[in-house]
Amino acid sequence: MMRSLFAAVTLALSVGFAGAQAQTASVAEQTVDTLNKIWGSHPGFRANHAKGVVVEGSFTPSIEGAKLSKAILFQGKASAVTVRFSDSGGLPTLPDGAGPANPHGLSVKFHLADGSDMDIVTNALKFFPVANGEEFLALLQALAASPAGAPKPTKLETFLAAHPAAPKAMASVSTPTSFARETYNGVDAFVFVDAAGKRQPFRFKIVPVAGEEHLSAADAAKQAPNFLMDEIVARIAKRPVSFKLLAQLANPGDQTKDPTQPWPDDRKLVDLGTITIDKAVADSKTAEKALLFLPSNLTDGIEMSDDPLIDARNQAYGVSFGRRSQ
Ligand code: HEM
Repeated sequence: MMRSLFAAVTLALSVGFAGAQAQTASVAEQTVDTLNKIWGSHPGFRANHAKGVVVEGSFTPSIEGAKLSKAILFQGKASAVTVRFSDSGGLPTLPDGAGPANPHGLSVKFHLADGSDMDIVTNALKFFPVANGEEFLALLQALAASPAGAPKPTKLETFLAAHPAAPKAMASVSTPTSFARETYNGVDAFVFVDAAGKRQPFRFKIVPVAGEEHLSAADAAKQAPNFLMDEIVARIAKRPVSFKLLAQLANPGDQTKDPTQPWPDDRKLVDLGTITIDKAVADSKTAEKALLFLPSNLTDGIEMSDDPLIDARNQAYGVSFGRRSQ
């Protein structure tokens, strides 16, 4: 994955750098500006996870979610879902098998029985490289300032040495054989609230019913540029693709504010239900432009935790959406 970072720098050089930032720019604006420096500016596209495909299906809850949360999502009825699979990075033409396309993303918009929507935005990272929005901006700035041939130690090497979770997080991802064969993690902690007001911190995990399957970096590099985008549409045309929506429950005392620190694997995993994807949308390119997935777009009974990364994400997604909608 270190290779991915350096590949991203090489790409950054090939696509050129954007203009100077205003001194008053917020962290979110600077983050989007820096993503545009690294990947080039591509009007109409997301500053990150620019390449994706939109599909549709439904979510059928198990009985377990309703025991933890009063959310309408778990109250028996199935909800329609709109799902976007994506490659990381801000380049809309990035080959799906390229290192910087990791971690791949899965965003789900649940169309709830009360007419509202709720979002879950996940990717294949097991934990995040840094703890908050300021540190993520610093990581991106270090990456942008470390092109191939930069004097050693590069800004990126210095940053990674000071943030040991970052290289570890990025080493935890590799290219899947299919979007349907990857596990996607919520990374940030959220909180279930039940009808009696009892609070239970948790993290989402979306696990493929077909099982995980990954390629070596060498085999990933040999794949056709759109192999993941094309394969998922062809797969759904043959038969539905399913994922289990799980919640990893925190034990009392587990911290919730640091997304670089996963909870131990022995924490209870609860099966919240099944996401079944059975339809490609007719015009994915048009559909994805109008879609905005936000980690804060929740429903009564599911709340944000004290993890500061969630708000940093909301702000940055809003800036990116505002710019790509112009
Ligand atoms: C401070 C940390 C982060 C920043 C600044 C950031 C930034 C962004 C931005 C600017 C976008 C484009 C949004 C849009 O135009 O709609 C985006 C998309 C996305 N991000 Fe993040 N991100 C962060 C952390 C994460 C984490 C922790 C995850 C997963 C757990 C994640 C998963 C995704 C996915 C899946 C998308 C594509 C959403 C879609 O399909 O529309 N990001 N991110």
